[in-house]
Amino acid sequence: MVGALVFGGAGGIGSAVSRRLAREHAVAIGCLRRPERARTLAREIQEAGGTAVVVEADASTDAGVVRSFDVAEELGPLRVVVHCVGGWDFPRITELSEESIDAALRLNLRSALLTLREAARRVADGGRVVLLSSAAAEVAPARQSTYAAAKAGLEAAARVAAKEVAKRGVTVNVVRPGATDTELLHATTSPRAIEAMAGSNAMKRLGTPDDVAGAVMMLCSDDSGWVTGAVVDATGGLR
Ligand SMILES: NC(=O)c1ccc[n+]([C@@H]2O[C@H](COP(=O)([O-])OP(=O)(O)OC[C@H]3O[C@@H](n4cnc5c(N)ncnc54)[C@H](OP(=O)(O)O)[C@@H]3O)[C@@H](O)[C@H]2O)c1
Repeated sequence: MVGALVFGGAGGIGSAVSRRLAREHAVAIGCLRRPERARTLAREIQEAGGTAVVVEADASTDAGVVRSFDVAEELGPLRVVVHCVGGWDFPRITELSEESIDAALRLNLRSALLTLREAARRVADGGRVVLLSSAAAEVAPARQSTYAAAKAGLEAAARVAAKEVAKRGVTVNVVRPGATDTELLHATTSPRAIEAMAGSNAMKRLGTPDDVAGAVMMLCSDDSGWVTGAVVDATGGLR
């Protein structure tokens, strides 16, 4: 069986990605602060006849990313790597500090760069790498300077990586979700702001984790071998 590694694989969007990948792959589910949630998901996948392991590791550190790949490679040739790690706060530009800038870049950008590096070294020929950005990278909403900057950086880095790994037939793409109905969204964003975001796309609703996972799976499919360095909007038609 071929393997897949999902950083943030038990999160809101990540768990939908892990469940779908598990239909055809042995999946390594990355987590950090909530390992129990990842273990529950792994059990669910195993009970449905799939293969899943949990790797507790900080995706913003060298050691954590390398160990995650080590664990994933034990499952078989690593065909898919998906990066679903990220998060935001709402600092005004006037409130930025060295600490808040570093924290946002570390979580959203450094983890993505380390994942790209390790995937470039270790994903199997013909493999698929997908990273989650955010509509914020393009919309640049007020009070999201660090998050938007980090995700824009992630998109640029993915496009560079796509060029460097193309000779092995590996593709690197980005999915850019809009507001998606996860715990993180509800924990960080007021109901009024969520309602406004849900009304701002063509579909007039929040995205679901499965909506976004569908776009990720499209880019992981055998049919997507000619699509690389792309940024795919999964926003329900925000533009
Ligand atoms: N929800 C939205 O509206 C939305 C919109 C646009 C883009 N996105 C992007 O989509 C991705 C997933 O978002 P989500 O809503 O599903 O959030 P989420 O549920 O909080 O998922 C984030 C995941 O990242 C993991 N994680 C956080 N820090 C980590 C670290 N240092 N090392 C390893 N893992 C770490 C978390 O695992 P633990 O809980 O185990 O720590 C969690 O599984 C993020 O990149 C986010 O920026 C989300």
